[in-house]
Amino acid sequence: MSHPLDLTVNGVRAQLQVAVHRSLLSVLREDVGLTGPKEGCDDSECGACMVLLDGEPVNSCSYLAVQADDREVVTVEGVGSGGDLHPVQRELLAAGGVQCGFCTPGVVVSAAALLEGTPDPDEEQVRRALAGNLCRCTGYQKIVEAVLRAAASSR
Ligand code: FES
Ligand code: FES
Repeated sequence: MSHPLDLTVNGVRAQLQVAVHRSLLSVLREDVGLTGPKEGCDDSECGACMVLLDGEPVNSCSYLAVQADDREVVTVEGVGSGGDLHPVQRELLAAGGVQCGFCTPGVVVSAAALLEGTPDPDEEQVRRALAGNLCRCTGYQKIVEAVLRAAASSR
């Protein structure tokens, strides 16, 4: 059964018809054409699919698209502004916090949400905010440093 879906993605309104069982992740990737959010575990474990829903980070693999009706979604493609990278993206690149890059979209989204609400976090707060984002490559230290530097650069 398909259902009308009206959502705003990165500031652009999308009006779609989607089957009720489909995940927000699949609709973003296949219908909206945004492949930044990644499918890793498809089970709310890895955070690669993380997007902001009305400003809150959610695992879009485990969220029904129809639950996002009339709501605002921001993906990694939308966290920067005016063509500029978000400070977290800039500092991840500078710090070597991106290796294979598979986790990066989710990390960026989680970190951007953290800095929105807590502009000057300490290391513990950064690690807590990123607890749902698994990275197989970096050992996390460079990611944490990058988020702390992003916070410092925005002061
Ligand atoms: S793909 Fe959604 S949490 Fe892993
Ligand atoms: S950079 Fe490869 S999983 Fe994080």
